[in-house]
Amino acid sequence: MSDTPPSSRHAPGPRALFRAPARAVALSEWALVPLRLFLGATFTYAGLQKLANPNFFNGVSPISIHAQLVAAARVSPLRGLVVHLEGLATPIGATVAVVEVAVGVATLIGLWQRAAAIGGAMLSLLFFLTVSFHAAPYYTGADLVFLAAWLPLALAGRSSRLSLHGVLDARVAAEAHRPTPEVVAIAFDDVRALCGHFDAGCCAALDGDACDSSRCPVLVARAPSGDGDAVERRAVVLATASTVLVGGAVAVGATVAAVAGRVVGGAPAPVNPNALHAPPGATPTALGVVLGRARDVPVGTAASFTIPATGDPGIVVQPSAGVFDAYDAVCPHAGCTVGYYAQSRLLVCPCHGSQFLVGNGEVISGPAPHGLAKLTVIEGSDGNLYLK
Ligand code: FES
Repeated sequence: MSDTPPSSRHAPGPRALFRAPARAVALSEWALVPLRLFLGATFTYAGLQKLANPNFFNGVSPISIHAQLVAAARVSPLRGLVVHLEGLATPIGATVAVVEVAVGVATLIGLWQRAAAIGGAMLSLLFFLTVSFHAAPYYTGADLVFLAAWLPLALAGRSSRLSLHGVLDARVAAEAHRPTPEVVAIAFDDVRALCGHFDAGCCAALDGDACDSSRCPVLVARAPSGDGDAVERRAVVLATASTVLVGGAVAVGATVAAVAGRVVGGAPAPVNPNALHAPPGATPTALGVVLGRARDVPVGTAASFTIPATGDPGIVVQPSAGVFDAYDAVCPHAGCTVGYYAQSRLLVCPCHGSQFLVGNGEVISGPAPHGLAKLTVIEGSDGNLYLK
């Protein structure tokens, strides 16, 4: 006979605190629908936008996947890997966009919701590690927030509310002449009051162990007897058929977006049409390092160059005749390369929209924590631009 006092023998161990509740109905049903719809719509839109924007696949555009990989190779903690992927920018960009659309659509319509949420979390983690790792403060990088937002959906899994899986489950149930599967939230106190087994903290149905929601015989789901396997198979067949149909629709939608984007034309990107090139064999002079010819930066335009000391991209603007404003073009938010918008006369980061003043490089909007690093560029009497 055991000497253990009844109170310690029946007490749930500390591990009970970390077990999932018997049915996390409130989390997996209506409570997560707004988040699911938002993430689904956002990822669908983001994927289609990439496919529809020719600039995303145009290697010379600062908003291209190639430019983003180049930026990631500079600042990402995965730069050792990313640097080898720059030559694969187009297939990587297309894959990312299609996966975004697939994850978004599956989440939006409620098909394979846990798998889609895990896919969304993996994509967000990838974006965080490559694009927004150095966003400062950290909460200005959206990818980390998206990663956190996907996790509840991944944990909750499938929901029957406003979801295709819910519709399919109802159809399978109807074909099997069963009632529509319905899960309701019920306070555990009410279960205790109704079950007839509860006695001063213990459960007669659990051999007198402590009352425990995760083992409660009233709450344990029981498969209906009889044709359970056939019903399961029917559910899998319907889900697979739906996946094929939805996958086809995603493929058609992605193709239409890509074609339409090329017919209509993508959104204008901040481009630096000119690139400065130092004359062959040029050596540093008393004026500095020669960058290229001043006439390659007409008034009201900008040109790009490489900063010899750091290898960073630089940008020089000639806002008025004879005035040259130059900056390190690496955005201080997450390392993308800023471009010049002639219309607004601003330097703009294509990744998250930070805007910087020409003249002093100060940030005037967007998540960049500070302005661009200013460089000194002067025009020599030989018509060349020199970087001090
Ligand atoms: S990298 Fe985010 S605003 Fe520039």
